[in-house]
Amino acid sequence: MTAADAQIRFDDGARYERYMGIWSRLVGDRFLDWLAPAPGLDWLDVGCGNGAFTQTLIARCAPAQVYGLDPSVPQVAHARARLAGDAAHLLAGDAMALPFPPASVDALVMPLVIFFVPDPERGVAEMVRVGRPGALVSAYAWDLPGGGFPYHALQARLRARGVVLPAPPSPDASRVEVLQALWAGVGLCEVRTHSIEVRRTFADFDDYWQTVLEAPSIGPQLARWQPAQVAQFAAEVRAELPVDGANGAITVGARAHAVAGRVPGGR
Ligand SMILES: C[S@@+](CC[C@H](N)C(=O)[O-])C[C@H]1O[C@@H](n2cnc3c(N)ncnc32)[C@H](O)[C@@H]1O
Repeated sequence: MTAADAQIRFDDGARYERYMGIWSRLVGDRFLDWLAPAPGLDWLDVGCGNGAFTQTLIARCAPAQVYGLDPSVPQVAHARARLAGDAAHLLAGDAMALPFPPASVDALVMPLVIFFVPDPERGVAEMVRVGRPGALVSAYAWDLPGGGFPYHALQARLRARGVVLPAPPSPDASRVEVLQALWAGVGLCEVRTHSIEVRRTFADFDDYWQTVLEAPSIGPQLARWQPAQVAQFAAEVRAELPVDGANGAITVGARAHAVAGRVPGGR
């Protein structure tokens, strides 16, 4: 693997939607059930990507205003097109240097992002800086060390073959005890955590495999293999998947950890 592909890049909003956006909305729904935020808040979605969770947020939380920020310009462009009628403000930027004044929003969220932030503590501190007194500061993240990532089994199979896959810089930040410590460590109060299990059904193996081939971590690695090698690997994967005998559908589970706290004061 070269230095150029050692990082996971998100540069195609439509592919991202099939690979991860569908998963994010599944978790995001359950996350909002748990978070139960008040309506009418000013929100900032940090690492909004292609707007998958932002759309759920707008549909469910009746926000006064929504800002979304992501370093990937193509993802932000996709989010802009997706949320064109929703008056969302979408911009390029980094979680570790939020381009917002202090105490300017009511609620901040990092959906499936904290493990991509090189310095998670700084990212959380930035959310606290931008939150008004009493602001809700929250996140959800795949349980990467605990095998909760939706494509964990597939990645493990590739690694067992000696394939070096690109990985996010801060996987440990998704541990529930690390999230708890990060939130408490920056002075947030009323800190609570939650575990969310979700299941996604792919129409059939082709649907699953096409999605995998589009994955930013796995797809480029498989593209380097000979077609016969890919076909053999696909057959191995298929044999291990829980295929519904009646209609060929494949249902896969995943687990995320969620955390929330409040900026002190204001209530
Ligand atoms: C798995 S995607 C999640 C996107 C979206 N929140 C969702 O739930 O679908 C991770 C996102 O984190 C973004 N990201 C990576 N590094 C970041 C950073 N330092 N600050 C903010 N976002 C970052 C990526 O560009 C990508 O869009």
